[in-house]
Amino acid sequence: MRVAVAYDVRMRTHRFFATTFKGLEDVLAGEIASLGGEDVSAGPGSVAFSGDMALCYRANLWLRSANRVVLLLSEFPAPTPAALYEGTREIPWPDLFPPERTIAVDATVRDSGITHSHFAAQKTKDGIVDRFRDAVGRRPDVDAKTPEVRIVVRIVRDECAVSLDTSGESLNRRGYRAIPSEASLKETLAAGLLLLAGWQGGEPLIDPACGAGTIPIEAALIAGNVAPGSLGRSFGFQRLHGFDRKRWEAMLSEAREALLHPIHVRIEGSDISPGAVAGAMKNAINAKVNERVLFNARSIRNFDPGEGPGTILCNPPYGTRLPGGTQVETFYRELGEALKKRCRGWTAFLLSGNPAATKFLGLKSSRKFPVMNGPIDCRLLKYDLY
Ligand SMILES: C[S@@+](CC[C@H](N)C(=O)[O-])C[C@H]1O[C@@H](n2cnc3c(N)ncnc32)[C@H](O)[C@@H]1O
Repeated sequence: MRVAVAYDVRMRTHRFFATTFKGLEDVLAGEIASLGGEDVSAGPGSVAFSGDMALCYRANLWLRSANRVVLLLSEFPAPTPAALYEGTREIPWPDLFPPERTIAVDATVRDSGITHSHFAAQKTKDGIVDRFRDAVGRRPDVDAKTPEVRIVVRIVRDECAVSLDTSGESLNRRGYRAIPSEASLKETLAAGLLLLAGWQGGEPLIDPACGAGTIPIEAALIAGNVAPGSLGRSFGFQRLHGFDRKRWEAMLSEAREALLHPIHVRIEGSDISPGAVAGAMKNAINAKVNERVLFNARSIRNFDPGEGPGTILCNPPYGTRLPGGTQVETFYRELGEALKKRCRGWTAFLLSGNPAATKFLGLKSSRKFPVMNGPIDCRLLKYDLY
């Protein structure tokens, strides 16, 4: 069997994959290149790159649009369960983490002899624990919910890639949003949309249907040059052998020194729901950007930001029934009126997952960027408002 073990404890350069939302790959590739990633190449929903472990720390600390950064350990053909087991067992697991760590395996399979992801995860886990038992006489326990080390297995057309998740919890969990709500954008998606819209903190930014405030808060983090991974969360790489604490702490203090404070750019969010606005304010306090963002409770009907230039970015509701019993059609009509009559000189970006409703805006977009918001096929629509 051909096994290409990509990882060796003596290697200085590794191959990584950062995952993101489909449609944001180029944005993420740009972020990775600017951090110093090499051989950067974008594929559907992820970006591959090379670099050392210091780059891996930096990527987890600074990437705004990535959901996870995984370290590629091995690639091999796995047409059968036995090949998957053997290929996994070849990897020098005890060099990577101690057997006291709890583990979980996330597997996906597509167009392959092995058809069940759960079974693939089981076989991979067997290979890992057997390698540990042979080498050190002890094995890690499985903790499916809150593992200390997460292993990622992907089998596509019988070709298997085994990786180690260096992020741990998804990077969208910045740590500032207490109660993640269903309707809220993921933090990484909100940041990626700002970057896709070309917003870099130099001009005003307003979200007139801001919900939990994710877009304005991510905008404030960009404008203040705040590293999104510096808000108090932990990372998977901290639980691996060889974790360089000194280096990591130096990176965190560099990030603190790089903060831009105060920032003078106007960043605002409003929403018809006072409860949502109260939540947004709380989240902004947790993210330590409450002094940079202004939130208020207001219907889109009264949205009047004054003369541009500036950027309006929001993800309007997708559903049909909205707070206060209004219809989605009414929301889009009122948003369209506001954009046409009261937003001269602004550029608006709407993340729409409802093409029928978008028609009620009565405006023609100048660009459409396809973006997947989880399973929802969306378009980020750009409107130039003269
Ligand atoms: C899809 S959610 C936005 C989520 C937000 N981006 C976040 O990350 O939490 C749509 C928001 O539109 C708000 N909304 C509905 N009708 C509105 C109106 N007439 N004026 C202003 N906001 C409205 C809802 O309260 C909801 O918070």
